[in-house]
Order: sequence, then C-alpha cells, then structure tokens
Amino acid sequence: MSIRIDSENGTLTLHTAHTAYQMQIGRGGHLLHVYYGPDAEGTFARSIVPADHGFSMNPYEIREGRNYSVDQLPLEYPGSNIGDFRTTAVDLIADNGICGCDLRFKSCAVEKKAYTLQGLPAARDPETEAETLHVVLGDEATGLEAELLYGVFFEKDVITRAVRLKNTGDHALTLLAAASMCLDLPERYTERIHFHGRHTMEMQTERCVLAHGIQTISSGRGMSSHHHNPFTILCEEKTTEEQGWCIGVMPVYSGNHRTDIEVDQKESVRVVTGINRDMFTWRLEPGEIFETPQVLLTFCSSGLEGLSRQLHRFFRKHILRWPEAWKTPPVLLNSWEAVYMDFDAKRICALAKQGARLSSDLFVLDDGWFAGRSSDTKALGDWTADKTKFPHGLVTVEEDVRKQGVSFGIWIEPEMVSEDSELFRKHPDYALRVPGRKPVMGRDQLVLDLSRQEIVDGLYNQIARLLEDGGIRYVKWDANRNVADLYSAALPPERQRELSHRYVLGLYSLMERLTAAFPQVLFEGCAGGGGRFDAGILYYFPQIWGSDDTDAVARLSIQRGYSFGYPPECVGSHISDVPNEQTGRTVPLSLRALTAMSGTFGLELDPARLSEQENEELQRYIGIFRRYAGLIRTGIYSRLRPERERDSLFAWEIRAEDVSEVLVFAADTDPQANAKAVTLYLRGLQEQAVYRLTCVEPETVWNGSRPLSGQLFTGSELMQGAFSIRPFSGTAPAALFYLKRTECA
Ligand code: DGJ
Repeated sequence: MSIRIDSENGTLTLHTAHTAYQMQIGRGGHLLHVYYGPDAEGTFARSIVPADHGFSMNPYEIREGRNYSVDQLPLEYPGSNIGDFRTTAVDLIADNGICGCDLRFKSCAVEKKAYTLQGLPAARDPETEAETLHVVLGDEATGLEAELLYGVFFEKDVITRAVRLKNTGDHALTLLAAASMCLDLPERYTERIHFHGRHTMEMQTERCVLAHGIQTISSGRGMSSHHHNPFTILCEEKTTEEQGWCIGVMPVYSGNHRTDIEVDQKESVRVVTGINRDMFTWRLEPGEIFETPQVLLTFCSSGLEGLSRQLHRFFRKHILRWPEAWKTPPVLLNSWEAVYMDFDAKRICALAKQGARLSSDLFVLDDGWFAGRSSDTKALGDWTADKTKFPHGLVTVEEDVRKQGVSFGIWIEPEMVSEDSELFRKHPDYALRVPGRKPVMGRDQLVLDLSRQEIVDGLYNQIARLLEDGGIRYVKWDANRNVADLYSAALPPERQRELSHRYVLGLYSLMERLTAAFPQVLFEGCAGGGGRFDAGILYYFPQIWGSDDTDAVARLSIQRGYSFGYPPECVGSHISDVPNEQTGRTVPLSLRALTAMSGTFGLELDPARLSEQENEELQRYIGIFRRYAGLIRTGIYSRLRPERERDSLFAWEIRAEDVSEVLVFAADTDPQANAKAVTLYLRGLQEQAVYRLTCVEPETVWNGSRPLSGQLFTGSELMQGAFSIRPFSGTAPAALFYLKRTECA
C-alpha cells in the first residue's frame, strides 16, 4: 500500500519504492509538510521544534507559549493573509471584499488509481498502478475548498500533485494565485539547478547557491519558453551525478509557469510551483471548480543521474505515447535547412528522392508549402497547398514520395495568423489584440485566440482535412512567436486575465482531439526549436524539435540540459550541413551524426550538395542509428562528462535496463594540441560481468599498439578507469563505442 493514513497520529504518508513523503495535521488543523526523503517509517513531525520567534504571529486559538506560528511551520498548501509572510500557494479576493484564505484540514480519502484533470494533461496510468490521495482543506470565511491531489507512482518514485479549488461559498471568488503545489524543505537544500537560455540556445544548465529571499524561475511569454524551462532541481551542496539528495520539480504545463524558491529567516526552503500568478486571475462563481496543472515531483538520494533516470522512466510509461507505427523511430529528412521556402513540387520530389536513396523513412515538407507562403511575412492561417508551387495539389507530391517507399510528413503553425492571409481578412477579430492599441508583431505574425471554441473548431477542421486521406503520417507543429496583447473579444472584462490559461486549455483540447482522431500520425512539437519544450506538450506529442541551432557543438550542451529531465528520444535532433547555418562552424560529419543520435536522429540538408563519399557516410550513420535506436529509446542515460563547467569533453552512456549492453558516446568540442588520452568511468554496470567492446565510430581505435575493438573488460574495470581512449583530434572529435555483455567470465 503506497498511501497510509494514520488517524491516531494524524499523519498521511505516501510511500514509493525508495521514497517517503509525510504530512501531519497540525494542532490548528493546518496541514504540515514534515518529510520528503528516502523511504522510512515513523513520525517526522518531531523535526518541528516549537519555539517563540518574534514577529511570527499565532493563530487566535493557539496562543499559549506563542510557539505555534504559520509563519514558521512547513505548510503543505499555504493561503495568504493569515500571518504566513512567505510566498503563498493560493491567493484570492471574494466579491464581498474578503482577501486571502486560511486553509484547514477537512477530510482525506484514498483512490486506487491515478487522478485525471479536466482539459489538462495528467500522467497516464495504463495499468492502474498508481494510487491517489485526496486531501480536502477549507477556508470558512470564503468557502474556498482546496482538494490536494497526490498521485503516487510507486515503482517510478514519482509523486504527482495538483489542486482542485472549489467555491463552496455564496460569493464569487477571484483567484489571484493558484499554485499546483508548495513544498517546504529543510535547510539542507542549499542549491538549485535550472535551465535557462534563449532562442537557438535553450537548456543551458545553471547551478546556483540559494540566497535568502525569493528566487523566481518563470515564463510570462504564453509558452513555457526558450528562456526558462519549467523544470527545477533542488539539491545539496555535495550533490553530484552520483551522490547527494535532490528533488526534481516539473510542471506538466506549456503556458506561463512560475517556480518561487524562498529561503526564509530560518533558512528553510519553500518551493511554490504552478501557473505564473502574473497576468493571471480566475473567477470562481459559487459551485465552480478550478483545476491547476499537474506537477511531477521526484526525490533521489543518490544524485542527479538517479533523478534523471526516475524521470526518464516515468516519461516513457506515463507521459509519452508513440503511434503504433512509429514505435521504431523513423529516420526523417526535413526540407527546412535544405531548401527553406525556395522550392516547387519538382524540387521537393527530388529532395525526397535523395532521402529515399539514403534509406530514410520519412520526408518532411517544412514551412513554405501553403497558399501564398513565399516568405515568413504572410499566409499563416490558410492551410491549403500553394497552387503555384503545387499546381496539382499536395496529393501528387505525397504519392510521389510514397512511391519511393518513404512516408510523407508536413509542417504547420496552426496557432498563428499573418495579416496577409485569407483567414485574417475574413476574421480579423480572431487574432489576439488589445482594442485601441497596435498589436505587437513577432516574425510578422499574430496569435489566434485559442480561448474561443469556434477558432479551435475551425483549426481542427482545417487540420483534419489535411490528415483525412491518411497520406500524411507526421506533423511538425510549430509556433514562432510568444503570446502578447492579451485581450479576447469573447471574454467579459472580469475574465480577461484568465486568457493565457484559457489559451493553453484551447491548445490542449485541439491537440487531444487531433491525436485521438489520427492516432497513426506522429506529431512533433516545436516553437522555434525548444520554446515550448515541456511535459504538457510531450503528453500529446512525444517528440519536440530541440533547438533551431543545429550546430553539433552547441547542441551538445543543449541536449545535455534536456537530459536532466527528459529522455533523449523526445529531443528532435538532426544532422545539418556545414558551415552551420546558425554559428558558421564546420565540424566533421561524425560529430554531427553522433550528436543527432543522442536525440531523435534525422537529416536537415540537401544530400545532392554532398559528395558521393559523404552520402555513403550518411548512409552508414543511418545504419548505426537503426542498430541502436531501440537501446537509445529504452536505456538508462548517464551523463559522464563534462564534470566541470568549461570542460570541453562531452560523454554519455546509455545502458540497457538489464545492463547487457551499453552505448558510449564521447566528443571533444575543443580538441587541444598534444592532448591527453581520455579515461571514461562508466556507470551502473555489473562488476563481475565481462563486456566485449566494439568501436562503432571510428571503426578502428588503438589502445597503444592494440586495437580497442574486441577487447574484453569487466564491469569493474569499465567503471574504475581501465577504459582509456586516445586523444581526440580536430578531424575526428567524436567517438561511439558499444559494449556487449559476454557469457565468459
Ligand atoms: C522554426 C522551426 O524551429 C524550424 O525548424 C522551421 O520549421 C521554421 N520555424 C520554419 O518557419
């Protein structure tokens, strides 16, 4: 049983395979958070030592000793205006003027399955392996009820949290903040890791020492953003890949998110996560319910690698859903960097033919194919084929591509509209804009108001028409600007600040309908690369284009950042031409190919511009990817290097869950003259087992005077430093090794 309710001690405990999470109903009925850590039995409330702290007030009914203060206690879901002066999880104003809420315990119950949320993604539970704890807190003065939801995924060591806020009173309530969770932690959590960036440079890993006060990681861009990924890790100073406590906090949400980390006067750490309270309110009429997005929580006592492993396993079972036909990952050729918008049917068919020669599985026609789209200033909104480029329509191209044994995929950007488009001319009010103000332009386009049902319906019909004949097997769904000008022609004034969340709900409903109606289609998310790379999108679309920067060197740090929270098979990653379009850098094909293999692997170039020899090499890399794709999609991922910032050596390992085979990748982004040999310390292998090494790329690597390929190593040797490789050079800065467990000892 993963949930225990002990009425005698007033404790509620969640157990997963290796962790425990405990709450205690405090004296005043406040729900206290008393423990989250390695699995343990017991009552952890004793960690709270009552003391009289000046300027920390006491509830009216508990004043003796002055040592019970909500300002000092670890609270599970704190309201505001009650004497807890830290950042709060929920804030509101009632129509009768009452502000804030004082939430006290009312009831709790256990359900033998995972909870679901209305219109929001919530971790799937296909085999009903999860349990849910429901805890109801209530505020008498306003009638707000907060039902805290805890989904306990025992095997995965993941707890999901969300909150159902209900107005049980007589007055309408306006929520000013409605976080999905609060987590009050002890002072041992002194650092945080988060993933910041910008367009074409997402997921830069940053580790900081926590400071007193509030540190915020957020997005107000209407999307989870290139700038701050909705994923934060709290850890100890001593936490490394292999040791130390850490907690991952990841909202399953694609809109404006916010994580506040507050270090208070006693160095306790409060983490509040959920929808960004800026530009947000939600009106709850009597009887109405508001559900917050879900947050994934996972604790690991053995460092960051374990934390990532827990999340990767969780994603694979409970978030990602691959179309049956694409369970084996397709190798795709995407037209974008090959031809941009400069094409016609003939050029596209020729490009697809080149892809077919290389034995790719899928050809993707990127931006530029629809009516009037001759540049990125026009035509978004009209999702029919351009007659000049495709006089006989798309169907003939689709057929031509299919005749070559390659599936056909297409790019769309459905949330956007160009002023120069039929849709905008007909329905100018469909675009978000503030009356009386000129709209803010991003890539010369506007954002459609997805809070409106008729707009979502219209988009569904347009996209369904494209997909109906079954010819399109893949869709890349792009979104190339952030959301501003928040004003909806369809909402009353008091609901205008609901718009950014309503937009996300509209988007999710569209994704839900399309993926349900077209389960054979593989959807890939994209927002100018990783501008909306989050668990919410991944719930519908199992892969997301990782970055518009296709330079392999830049990609190594971007993809390393993703690996902390997301499994490699969901990170869209392609081999592109050199010099690279974004950075101007020229790196060998081997580095480009092996980097793409730590993601989805695809091509984004015109093979006709490559030499015969390069085409042959490409074909060889495709073969290598196919050989190991299954392992990449299911294996355990370890970040081996860099160990320190500014270390130019990147290395990762993917081992099968049963440790019978291992793939090791290494690359040096800044090879030195007179360089040292490199020792790789592998992880997680069976110490006594014997592994046979194969050099996959390059095929011949020497270890002194002996070739490395064919050499046998024990697991211990591989983990303790016997695996050394020659220095990397500028012409061959990347290598891939494969280790297979042999029967011999
Ligand atoms: C941004 C995407 O990230 C690119 O891959 C490409 O699809 C362009 N948009 C097309 O406009």
